[in-house]
Amino acid sequence: MSKQLILALSKGRILDETLPLLADAGITPAEDLSASRKLLFDTNLPDVKIVVIRATDVPTYVQLGAADVGVAGKDVLLEHGAEGLYEPLDLEIARCKLMTAGVTGAEPAQARRRVATKFIEVARRYYAEQGIQAEVIKLYGAMELAPLMNLADEIVDIVDTGNTLRANGMEPRELIASISTRLVVNKAAMTMKHERLKPLIQRLQEAVAHRREQASA
Ligand code: ATP
Ligand code: PRP
Repeated sequence: MSKQLILALSKGRILDETLPLLADAGITPAEDLSASRKLLFDTNLPDVKIVVIRATDVPTYVQLGAADVGVAGKDVLLEHGAEGLYEPLDLEIARCKLMTAGVTGAEPAQARRRVATKFIEVARRYYAEQGIQAEVIKLYGAMELAPLMNLADEIVDIVDTGNTLRANGMEPRELIASISTRLVVNKAAMTMKHERLKPLIQRLQEAVAHRREQASA
């Protein structure tokens, strides 16, 4: 196993909040990530490189060892599964909730419920645990449209302010999981590169704790 550390970062909403935490932990990209079409970046440290990839691909990169460390939402991790991954740290950013939601005021369908979501594994598990028969329909976005178009009775999606639901005549129903962004580490790398990973995780831990203290002051 090479001595180099590869960090896999989720592009999109999480990235802007991840970079200051990494900076606090002593890692800064060698160039502006958003101003480049590149996907693999050098950092200020010669043995650390960053890849910026789709959030849903981060667990795969880390699980298969193409990256040693990843930053991904708990929603993505719940959907992907935890095999081959350690999750040593909650970065406490991009907080939101994974919820069921339906048309405002409508009674949840009692018979087989049609559920539209991009979180099909999470949804299947959740409805099975609740003893509710569900037909889970995979969508890749705009879940809030599905009940309006009579494609589904209910959706499973991320809710933060609730504005997207409200704007589409929907309301949140049940909480499935509270979500935040997590640090994940490849299990083999955790052993083989422990000396290198330990201080990184510790510095990130300190950065998260520092932010928490500032926020509550
Ligand atoms: P992809 O482009 O791979 O489909 P995405 O569009 O779901 O990913 P983002 O919207 O950038 O990705 O969201 C990344 C992560 O941010 C999610 O996995 C979730 O953990 C969190 N997140 C998503 N929506 C919100 C929100 N409204 N408020 C706070 N956090 C959110
Ligand atoms: C996310 C999520 C919801 C919305 C929830 O979408 O998929 O649609 O945020 O946030 P709210 O409760 O504050 O409205 P995002 O804005 O990331 O767009 P996307 O659907 O393109 O991912």
